[in-house]
Amino acid sequence: MSIDGDILRLLAIGGPVFPEDIQRKLGIEQALLQKHVSALAALGYEISHTPHVGYRLISIPDRLHADAIHAFLPPDSLVGSDIHVFQETNSTSDIVERLARDGAREGTVVFAEAQTKGRGRLGRKWFSPNREGLLCSILLRPQLHPTQAVQFTIAGAVAVARAVHAETGLQPQIKWPNDVLLAGKKFSGILTELHAELDRISYLVIGIGVDVNTLAFPPELQEIATSLRLESGRMITRVKLAAKILAELDACYDDIRSGGFERISDQWEQWCTTLGKSLRIDTGGSIIEGVAEALDADGSLLVRSAHGRLERAIGGDVRIIKN
Ligand code: BTN
Repeated sequence: MSIDGDILRLLAIGGPVFPEDIQRKLGIEQALLQKHVSALAALGYEISHTPHVGYRLISIPDRLHADAIHAFLPPDSLVGSDIHVFQETNSTSDIVERLARDGAREGTVVFAEAQTKGRGRLGRKWFSPNREGLLCSILLRPQLHPTQAVQFTIAGAVAVARAVHAETGLQPQIKWPNDVLLAGKKFSGILTELHAELDRISYLVIGIGVDVNTLAFPPELQEIATSLRLESGRMITRVKLAAKILAELDACYDDIRSGGFERISDQWEQWCTTLGKSLRIDTGGSIIEGVAEALDADGSLLVRSAHGRLERAIGGDVRIIKN
């Protein structure tokens, strides 16, 4: 990390920090510290300096910056160990895809302030206005069977729900497999793209879109989409939320790798709106209709049909028919 990033990390902990402590920890002179604090101030980081108290981070600019996201991440987080931020791209998932093919390490994350070809599941577009939301894609290389990939979509949704709750106090709900909702409207979606051999995942690209500070949606989304700002009535600091989502996903990835997916599915059940509801899932090739009964150990949804048969869905377009 850069010196700016190191200073931000020390200040991000919350309390004031004596300049002498920062100098000692970073091995820099007072003049260099002051130069970096002034440079951060010029970028919009508001840092107070009170004699005998120290430096305190008052506010951060509403701009995604790799150093700033790093500063709010636990230092040992694998997810986010390498962060790239683009001002605009076609799709962050395309960039990660390219990095993956070039051998990038797992945990690499790409953010964009805007996307020109943001994509969602089932060939849909993802509305990606400039600097209003979080648009990111994460590269993972789990040593797992391809059928377990749906666990990562579930983990992504749980990570978003947990992070949003921690940062805003709101109570999101998850609609299987990948929609995260507030007041019945979607504010976040997860798109997991899988690259696999017959029996082994080569790599996964987990794309996460979150409508954070959006105030106006295009007409076709107005009835079905919302944002954290619309639901909470306040601007949300995107950098902190971004770091929290990555940290939560990192914790979920630890659980998946150690065979503890039940810990995630238990959490998922707490946030879930799907279980117990009558629904219709269009899987692309077939229709599954019935009552959502449980999340299976691999992340698939078990649906009890009217004839009493238990059917398994690993993805598709879900319509709730009856609550
Ligand atoms: C969905 O709900 O259909 C999934 C939406 C996923 C959108 C994100 S935004 C960042 C990443 N890049 C993309 O092009 N898509 C995902």
